[in-house]
Amino acid sequence: MAATTPQSIFLKPTPAKAAASSINPSSLAPNTLSTSKPQKPCSIKCAATAHQIQDPIKPTHPLPSEDRVYNFAAGPATLPEDVLLRAQSELYNWRGCGMSVMEMSHRGKEFSSIIQKAESDLRALLEIPDDYAVLFLQGGATTQFAAVPLNLCSPDDPVDYIVTGSWGDKAFKEAQKYCKPNVIWSGKSEKYTKIPSFDDLQQNSDAKYLHICANETIHGVEFKDYPIPKNKGGILIADMSSNFCSKPVDVSKFGIIYAGAQKNVGPSGVTIVIIRKDLLGNAQGITPVMLDYKTHADNSSLYNTPPCYGIYMCGLVFEDLLAQGGLKEVEKKNQKKAEILYQAIDGSDGFFRCPVEKSVRSLMNVPFTLAKPELEAEFIKEAAKESMVQLKGHRSVGGMRASIYNAMPLSGVEKLVAFMKDFQARHA
Ligand SMILES: Cc1ncc(COP(=O)(O)O)c(C=O)c1O
Repeated sequence: MAATTPQSIFLKPTPAKAAASSINPSSLAPNTLSTSKPQKPCSIKCAATAHQIQDPIKPTHPLPSEDRVYNFAAGPATLPEDVLLRAQSELYNWRGCGMSVMEMSHRGKEFSSIIQKAESDLRALLEIPDDYAVLFLQGGATTQFAAVPLNLCSPDDPVDYIVTGSWGDKAFKEAQKYCKPNVIWSGKSEKYTKIPSFDDLQQNSDAKYLHICANETIHGVEFKDYPIPKNKGGILIADMSSNFCSKPVDVSKFGIIYAGAQKNVGPSGVTIVIIRKDLLGNAQGITPVMLDYKTHADNSSLYNTPPCYGIYMCGLVFEDLLAQGGLKEVEKKNQKKAEILYQAIDGSDGFFRCPVEKSVRSLMNVPFTLAKPELEAEFIKEAAKESMVQLKGHRSVGGMRASIYNAMPLSGVEKLVAFMKDFQARHA
């Protein structure tokens, strides 16, 4: 770290291990806990240029600190260790400006620099074209299930939904309140293990939009390519909550992409919407002001108080993803992790099983079962003892599920695979 950074003046860097477990007051830098007043940050310039003088986030550690578990939760999910450590070091006094990000005015120059950098880094990551707005919202992806039809349709407009899992189904059901949605394909009868062939889809030629859930978090099915709306003026909409920023995406194929942040890019509380600008300004009259995308686009996501700390965390994650070489590199890592896990399942002679059709298996959420279901509770318990947690499948489907988002290191998947082999050897 350069000797002149604000951080080096106000927060003496703690060793990484100590910092990761620094509930212990003695492990913290003196002025992070001291009851005496912190030094006045008189000579430090923060705000708009502060990020330029900050050391870049280092790419994710291959191994986590010993005091952390491998967290396979579906979301909120594991975050990059370097991001957490950076957030920890900046928690008390953001880059020498004398306050935490949690205490800043959302209209002040410091937070403006944070949200602007988050947006520009996300634009760089996904190569978002200029004719798309990026919005940082609240309410989770669930709120978008209503916002999408409210913003794009009149009550009598037909729209199409491809339902490949529970989240697509929820989106469809919510849309029934605001327009005339039609399920043109559902994988329910096959327990949501497939993605349809696009040629066979019976799309409504008048549908205002075609909605997909790009990755079904519960069932582990992922679109590898995207359908084109049949209606010439139709718009493709994707819920990308659980594979957002896990691989490059051609944003120009979509009218709207939305995602809750809490899987791949930050904590819960932030929802990201990427919307083509010509779609703004057509909301139904009954649309609450907070659900009208134009409200947020016109105000650069600052119409009301945004989830400031969550946006800051997302910004750190975007920086980390760029430092890793961008989404092509991130995708390669995700492919490698998924490959070894699916190989372990498929190579277990049926001891472990993944029900999802091979060509559409998710790189992010890997559901699997045991041929002897009575062993599943034992599997989850033993894994937790080995610091691999949150492996229980969703309550609606049972079994196990390993969510292996961007921030799950390869070492975590390798450890899980080794554990699976050992478990099989003991229980086959
Ligand atoms: C694909 C998908 N869509 C929507 C949601 C709902 O998101 P939220 O809880 O942010 O409303 C989830 C949550 O897990 C999800 O995985």
